[in-house]
Amino acid sequence: MQSKPYSRLQKWLHLLVVVFLVVDVAFQGGMTTAFRRGVQTGEFMLSPSASMHFLIGIAVLLAVLARLTLVREQGGMQTRAALPFMAIYVLLILVALSGVLAWGLGSATVAKLHHLISLALYGVVVVHVIGRFVVEFVLKNNTLSRMFSDFW
Ligand code: HEM
Ligand code: HEM
Repeated sequence: MQSKPYSRLQKWLHLLVVVFLVVDVAFQGGMTTAFRRGVQTGEFMLSPSASMHFLIGIAVLLAVLARLTLVREQGGMQTRAALPFMAIYVLLILVALSGVLAWGLGSATVAKLHHLISLALYGVVVVHVIGRFVVEFVLKNNTLSRMFSDFW
C-alpha cells in the first residue's frame, strides 16, 4: 500500500525531533540536579547541562510548532494515522511547556507533572517506533524507508 510522499521539510523536522530527544537524555540529570538545588536553596542557576536541556527542549518545541504550521497551511498530515501523531505533538508541547513552567515557578509539583508527561511521551514514542517497524516489515508499507531517505 503506498501513501503520499513526505516533504523534505517534514522529514528534516521529524529527524531533528528524534535526534534532539535522544541527545537530551544526556542532559536531563544535570537539569534535575540544578532544579533540586534551586528548590533547596531558593537560587535557580542553570548549569551547562541544565542549559542544554532547556535549549534542546525549546528547539523541540519550535520544530513541533513549525510542523503544525505546515499542517495548517498545506492541509492534513500525509498519513492515515494523523490522530496518534497529533497526540505525540500535544505531548511534546506539554512536556516543553511544563518544563519551562516548573523552572520558572520553581515548583516541585509542576516538575512532577513534567516528569509524568515525559514518561507518557516516551511510552507513546516506543509504541510509535514499534508500530512503524510493524507497518514496514509486516504490512509492507514502506513509510519507514521513505521517512528516512532523500533528505537532499
Ligand atoms: C523535549 C522536551 C523535554 C523533555 C522530553 C524533557 C524531559 C525531562 C526528563 C525526563 C526529566 C527528568 C525527570 C526526573 O527524573 O525527575 C526532566 C527534568 C527537568 N526538566 Fe525537562 N524536558 C523537556 C524540556 C524541558 C524544558 C524546555 C525545560 C525548561 C527549563 C525543562 C525543565 C526541566 C526541569 C526543571 C527538570 C527537573 C525536574 C525535577 O527535578 O523533578 N525541561 N525533563
Ligand atoms: C524519537 C522520537 C520520535 C518522535 C517524537 C516521532 C514523532 C513522529 C510524528 C509526530 C510523526 C508524524 C509526522 C508528521 O508530522 O506527519 C511521525 C511519523 C513517522 N515516524 Fe516518527 N517519531 C519518533 C521516532 C521515530 C523513529 C525512531 C522512527 C523509525 C523507526 C520513526 C518513524 C516514523 C515514520 C516512518 C513516520 C511516518 C508514518 C506515516 O506516515 O504513516 N519515528 N513520527
